Amino acid sequence: MNDEARVLAPARVIERREVARDTVVMRYELNLRAQVRPGQFAMVHPGDDDVYVLPRPLSILDYRDGVLDLLIKVAGRGSAQLAAMQPGASVRIFAPLGKPFDLEEFRGRPAILVAGGVGVVPLHMLSRELRATGSSPLPIFGARAPQDLPLEILGEEPAGPWQLFVEQQAGEVQRGGPREGPREGLREGLVTVGLVEALDRHPDAIVATCGPTPMMHAVARICRERAVPLRVCLEEQMGCGAGVCRACVVDDVDGGTRHTVCREGPVFDVEKICFLPEDRPKVATAQGCAS
Ligand SMILES: Cc1cc2nc3c(=O)[nH]c(=O)nc-3n(C[C@H](O)[C@H](O)[C@H](O)COP(=O)(O)OP(=O)(O)OC[C@H]3O[C@@H](n4cnc5c(N)ncnc54)[C@H](O)[C@@H]3O)c2cc1C
Ligand code: FES
Repeated sequence: MNDEARVLAPARVIERREVARDTVVMRYELNLRAQVRPGQFAMVHPGDDDVYVLPRPLSILDYRDGVLDLLIKVAGRGSAQLAAMQPGASVRIFAPLGKPFDLEEFRGRPAILVAGGVGVVPLHMLSRELRATGSSPLPIFGARAPQDLPLEILGEEPAGPWQLFVEQQAGEVQRGGPREGPREGLREGLVTVGLVEALDRHPDAIVATCGPTPMMHAVARICRERAVPLRVCLEEQMGCGAGVCRACVVDDVDGGTRHTVCREGPVFDVEKICFLPEDRPKVATAQGCAS
């Protein structure tokens, strides 16, 4: 992505939809200079409030004809402020950022996409683009509970159908409300169950993953054991989003080099970086392997 393609501009909220527990899809009016590719993200500044010095990184769910969709799960103050905004409010957005998935690597082989939580966002766009090129990816999504499933997105025909896993089938008791029962098509358990089943059927697959770190570590161990290529989409904490502050670095597996996730990622070949806690650079860096 060349730097001229990036835009820092005000964007107006034009729609806000609740899609799961503490999770909204915000639609903004914004003219970007480049097409958005799967894995790319935006740095979003909640407005003119000086308390939030740093913008928040959010993967891009969709961008078409001057309309940008972001999925926001409330994690703290910044995301809560962004998710609470109503149509008419304004934010500042820096986008599109980061190196996307390379679709060429997925061509001509089965693609298994393993997402957890907000990691569904980049893999949703990847699934849609792979299907548009005639591939049939196998997308698998895991959430903690049924209330955390953004079913509206997972059910979208151009990217689906997703295999769904929840850690707890019966939802938590809502205060004053009924206990949710099991939902059709949902399996109780971890996404790694779906991954192993898919790899048993397609040992020649390539895997892409995005989600909570423990989930991605489990996916990486399974892929390494089976010598299956894996692309990870990292969601490190970020500062500038522009490759300047180095708040987001990961070690190269050869040692000596540290890659910025915001600029050289967020998508990496897992075997090229120190990703698992047990990974160590071949040549020790001053800091050792960040884990
Ligand atoms: C490239 C990238 C893409 C992302 N895409 C999305 C997305 O599509 N949708 C979405 O809802 N979130 C996404 N995130 C995570 C999101 O940026 C953080 O949840 C958000 O910045 C937290 O800010 P806050 O002020 O709400 O919370 P804070 O008060 O800053 O933190 C609240 C809690 O969230 C944790 N946290 C903060 N940043 C991250 C992070 N990057 N990853 C994991 N935990 C974090 C903190 O450790 C703390 O426990 C993405 C992050 C990155 C780097
Ligand atoms: S966030 Fe500043 S270098 Fe990546």
